Amino acid sequence: MGWRILGENKDFALLGPEKFVKDRMTKYSPKVFQTSLFGEKLAIFCGAQGNKFLFTNEDKLLTSWWPQSLRKVFLFPEYIETSLEEASALRRSFHHDIFKPEALRQYIPVMDALARDHLDQEWDPNEVVKVFPLSKKFTFELACKLFLSVVESEYIKRLIDPFTLMINGMFSIPIDFPGTAYNRAIKDDGKIFSEMEICISIIALLVASFDTTSSAITSVMNYLAQQPHIYEEVLKRLNFEVFSEQMEIEKSKGPYELLSWEDIEKMKYLWNVVRESLRLAPPSQGAFRETIAEFTYAGFTIPKGWKTFWTVHSSHKNPEYFPEPEGFDPSRFEGSGPAPYTFVPFGGRPRMCPGKEYARLEVVIFIHNVVKRFKFQKTIPNEKIVFYSSPTSVHGLPVRLYPHQK
Ligand code: HEM
Repeated sequence: MGWRILGENKDFALLGPEKFVKDRMTKYSPKVFQTSLFGEKLAIFCGAQGNKFLFTNEDKLLTSWWPQSLRKVFLFPEYIETSLEEASALRRSFHHDIFKPEALRQYIPVMDALARDHLDQEWDPNEVVKVFPLSKKFTFELACKLFLSVVESEYIKRLIDPFTLMINGMFSIPIDFPGTAYNRAIKDDGKIFSEMEICISIIALLVASFDTTSSAITSVMNYLAQQPHIYEEVLKRLNFEVFSEQMEIEKSKGPYELLSWEDIEKMKYLWNVVRESLRLAPPSQGAFRETIAEFTYAGFTIPKGWKTFWTVHSSHKNPEYFPEPEGFDPSRFEGSGPAPYTFVPFGGRPRMCPGKEYARLEVVIFIHNVVKRFKFQKTIPNEKIVFYSSPTSVHGLPVRLYPHQK
């Protein structure tokens, strides 16, 4: 459990979530162990069995729960106490509308056009670019455009700073004294807005997409830069291979025609590259639940009211499910792909990430556009990956660009 208030947060921050979980799985149990993080006592469930247990017992034994730092920064204090259930119901119908297939289809040309503009303005004029901050800018602009109908860059610039402050506070230890990230993030004016539910649901989308998809884009770029043969394969399918999905797309379209749903469906190899990146560097480390009834799992009794967490790495890096788990191999996703509950970057069952398809479209469309225009090389070959709310390259992944044509 670690220290009384700090719990094991220090070890978690120093080791990173993957090693933190791995060490404790070895020391205590590969199925479930207890710890104290983010101000809460937690039972950490591991492996595909742990994922399955938590995903399939939603609303029977467990319910959704978020740590205090996240709830308070995000939901505004007065609001949490009163109407969390109503907000959940509203959010579900809101997600249904915003992520239904007809809506996603309409997002594709918008994503493609924005990716092209972004590369024209932010990448093309430069020899070296930092992928992580730029992919955050792209992700945020896209979310503002699609979820808030805000397109003017002046407004977007005014939103991004307070938004970044809020995000930083969410993934901090909830200690409220001047100077902490948490304290800065909860400074709202204490009022409940008249359209609070709507505000919360929209902010939730901005928050949930911001670090996750930018981290995913950065990881894919990192792996493509590190594995030239994978980059070449993506490019080959784009340019040369007669029967490949991306060649067909390029051939069938004029240079200014925007991508469609059918085009994305053909980009299978690129999607496998993205999935392999999500396996090795998952943007989200798992998710919390609260137990609503006492139960026994793997010989341990978990009391009612305890918090739990399922962990992404404990199955993604297991050689039983993914032979040579540290190797980058997109072919793992060919055919029937990984066994159930082993590949879980978006979670599973009823609480699976509602933005999964949106994220797939955004990442695939962005990378498609980058590979179409540039070859790139890391300027810091062994740049360290650090973990904050999502894994990221410590210097933002600077890459030198080599445009295919000038
Ligand atoms: C690569 C990108 C992404 C990853 C890896 C990811 C992963 C996840 C995971 C693991 C969860 C928690 C599932 C659970 O509770 O078991 C989640 C929840 C959520 N995600 Fe995503 N996500 C991504 C992108 C997005 C995007 C782009 C959006 C919206 C535009 C989004 C919206 C949400 C929302 C609203 C929730 C909370 C759902 C709920 O509690 O019912 N996510 N995501």
